[in-house]
Formats: sequence, structure tokens, C-alpha cells
Amino acid sequence: MRMRRIQTRITLTYFLLTLFAFIAFAIVASLATQQHLTNQKIAELSRRIDVIIPLLKSEINNDPAVLHRQIRNLALAADLRITLIDSTGVVLADSDVPFEGTPGIKNHLQRPEIQQAMRENIGTDMRLSSTVNEEFLYVAKTVDMRGANGDLRGVKFIRLSAHLRDIATMAKEERINILIAGAVVLVLVTGISLFVSHRIAIPMEQIADAVENIRSGDLDTRIEVKENDEIGRVAQAVNEMVEKLKTDIVQLKKLERVRSEFLGNVSHELRTPIFSLQGFLETLLEGAIDDTAVNRDFVQKAYNHSVRLNTLLGDLITISHIESGEMKMSFRYFILNELLSSVVEEFTPTAENNKVSLRLAPNLPSNVEVLGDKERLHVVFDNLLENAIKYNKPGGEVIVSFERQNGKVRLSVADTGVGIAPEHQPRIFERFYRVDRNRSREVGGTGLGLAIVKHIIEAHGSSVQIESKVGKGSVFSFTLKMA
Ligand SMILES: Nc1ncnc2c1ncn2[C@@H]1O[C@H](COP(=O)(O)OP(=O)(O)O)[C@@H](O)[C@H]1O
Ligand SMILES: [Mg+2]
Repeated sequence: MRMRRIQTRITLTYFLLTLFAFIAFAIVASLATQQHLTNQKIAELSRRIDVIIPLLKSEINNDPAVLHRQIRNLALAADLRITLIDSTGVVLADSDVPFEGTPGIKNHLQRPEIQQAMRENIGTDMRLSSTVNEEFLYVAKTVDMRGANGDLRGVKFIRLSAHLRDIATMAKEERINILIAGAVVLVLVTGISLFVSHRIAIPMEQIADAVENIRSGDLDTRIEVKENDEIGRVAQAVNEMVEKLKTDIVQLKKLERVRSEFLGNVSHELRTPIFSLQGFLETLLEGAIDDTAVNRDFVQKAYNHSVRLNTLLGDLITISHIESGEMKMSFRYFILNELLSSVVEEFTPTAENNKVSLRLAPNLPSNVEVLGDKERLHVVFDNLLENAIKYNKPGGEVIVSFERQNGKVRLSVADTGVGIAPEHQPRIFERFYRVDRNRSREVGGTGLGLAIVKHIIEAHGSSVQIESKVGKGSVFSFTLKMA
């Protein structure tokens, strides 16, 4: 199993934490145990002194040699060292020192346990015995030996000493036990944190791998979301982000394609009138200018193409304004009849030229107020009326009308023209899309009119509806909010 860095870090942290906790515990525990054992030993020695007193008293014998033997036997039986000391610190008998040597023992008055026993009746001390080089525990008690049979040669203190070997061994054993327990706990903790950190590291690694994949361009990478925890949420978020990124890129590519297509269309549309213009001017320059039979006609045609060029540029500017979002709408309430009357009046000459009858529907309610950008709606009607007149038949009709519908006003331009086949209907709002390219050009169309109309009507929160039958005519309509 390969260790992940995150795994190493987590495991190491837990390992060290446990180790420190354990060391602290071991120190405290070992100190406490030693203290406890020592206290126990002190209590035991103190109890023994209490037992020794009556024994000494009962076999009272003021002969120092007998006394010495007595304590020697007692000490042997209990594996202890017994020292009897008088009130001035002189050692009267010591179980570890032969009787003859007793007078040579140094005065014990200044020993800490004796000093303490003088003040508190009981005194203890621990120190290294210089003779055996082992730690000894001393417990001394002040005793009252004067009984019926005399004062037992003035014994004032009984001192017991026991070496601390037992305690040291026990403490050592305990330390070993603690060490074993600690080792077991450490192994367990390490094992558990390895397991837990593995479970954290694996999904993290999967996420890291996936993100790397995504960065190198594979947007189909998905992370399997297994759990609903924080890591699961990260995985989920990454998945959603990539999904969104993918959609955005698809959209961007589409936009890019539309844009370059549009650019291609624009150049193509511009080239025709420019070529024609050049052609006529060239012919004129090459001599036609003096040919009275054609010169006026050629100048007129050149002029027509320049007009067309101008119209095309005007529409392009409008479209680019709309699409770049630069065109700000200003919505106001205005009287609908006024707008419609003025556009109808404006287009009457064009209609007459095309032998088409253009009218407002009869009996329209007057003073109907609608909400909209009047200027932009004027542009809408310019385009719809131009189309209705130009894609019409001689003797045809164009009727502009409106009616209330579900609390709104539906405005319509109806013609009796060539009509639009159903398959073309959804496409005529695309830029430069024409059903009949030649006819559009003939009538001076740019292919942008309906695209502009669509944008403006959508900005009004509505959409353009078409009802049309080939050969019969078309109705273009949309709604506006009413006051
Ligand atoms: N009233 C209509 N009757 C028949 N066809 C129409 C009508 N209005 C628009 N069209 C068709 O839709 C196309 C796109 O219209 P438009 O965007 O105004 O461009 P243009 O009029 O410059 O060609 C036209 O070329 C024409 O084929
Ligand atoms: Mg048009």
C-alpha cells in the first residue's frame, strides 16, 4: 500500500500525540505508584514497631547483651533491621551490628527520621545506605518504655529500616506493564489512524486526479460521489463546475461559430452592392458618361446601390447595438393610435407604388394606451409594413390592427401577399435569412429586418407570432402591456 502524504501526516500526528500522552501518563503513574508503595511500607513498618513494643516489654531484661539478642532474633524473623536509640541519640542496640560493636556506632540524634520523630512522634527517611549501597527506608517512633520493670535502659526511639528493593522491583514491574500497554495502544492508534486516513486520502486522491484530468482538458471526467460528507460535497461541486464549464464552452463555441458566420455573411452582402457600384462607375469612366442614351441610367443605378449600401450599414449598426446590449430601451405609456396612424401615413406612398392598399382596421378603439419604447416600436412597424407591402401582390391589401387580449393588446400587420411556408417560418427571424433571395434583393431587403424586429419585441417581454399560408398572405402579431 502506497502511503499518501495526507495519510502520513494524519497517522504521524496521532502517533506522536499518543506517544506524548503515554509518556506523560507513564511518568505520573510510576511516580504515584512509588509514592503509594512507599506509604504502604511506612505504614507497615510503623505497625511493626507497635507490635515490637509489647514484645520487648514482656521479656524485659536490662542486660544489654540479652536485649541485643532479642532484637536480633526479631529482626531476623521479620527480615528487618531494628535499632534502639536513647533520648540522646546513643544507639543501644542494632540488629545488624554485633553486640561488641555497639558502643562504636555513631550518635544517631541528627538522623532526619530521629529529628522528625522527636517533633512528631514518628519520623521517616529514605537514603542510600553507605554500607550496602542500596536505598533504605527508615521509620522511627518515639516510644515510652518505662513500665513496671524499669525503663529498659532508656530506649527512647525504635527505628526500623527496610531496603527498598521490593518497592523498586514492583515499580519496575509496573513500568514494564505500562510500557506493554502503551505499545499496544500505540499500535492500535497507528492502525486505526492509518485506516481512517486511508479512507480520507483515497477520495481526496481521486478528486485530485480528476481535477488534474479536467485541467488537461478532459471535460467528461466525473468524480464518483460516495458519501454526503465534506469530501463528497467537494466532489459534487467539482462535478457541477465541470458540467457548467462544459455547457459554457459549448455555448461559447456556438457563439463563435455564429459570429464568424455573421462576419462571412456581412462581407458577402457588402460585396454585391460595392461590385455593382464599381462596375457602373467604371463603365461611366470608360466613356459611357458621354453616351446620353445610358449615362443617366447608369448614374441612377450607381446611386441605387449606394443607397442599398447605406441601408445595409444602418441595419448592421442597429443589430450590433442591440446585440452588444448598448441599446437601452425606454419604456413609456403612449397612445397606440397615434403611432399606428403615423406609420400608415408614412408608408402610404410606398404602398401606392406597389399597387397595394394599406389601411388601419376600421372601428379601432381610440385612446388605447400601451407600455413600450415608442421609437423602437416605430422601427418594428417600419420593417413589418415594408415586408407586408413588398412581399405582396399587385392589388393586394395590408391591414394594421389591434385588439384587447387577456388584459394586453395584440397588434397585427396582415397582408394578402406571397405567404411563408411553414418550414421557413421559424427561420425568417435569423439574420440574413430570406425565403427568396432574389426577390428580397429586388425589393431592397437586407435580410436583417425581422432579426431587428424579434430583438425589440423580445425586449418588450413578448414574441412575434406568424400565421401564414403560401399564396394567401401572412399575419405578423405581438402583444404589448396595456395601461
Ligand atoms: N410579409 C411577408 N410575406 C412573405 N414573406 C415575408 C414577409 N416578411 C418577411 N418575409 C420573408 O422573410 C425574409 C426575411 O425578412 P426580413 O428579415 O425583413 O429581410 P428582408 O426583407 O430584408 O429580406 C424575407 O426575405 C422574406 O422572404
Ligand atoms: Mg424586410
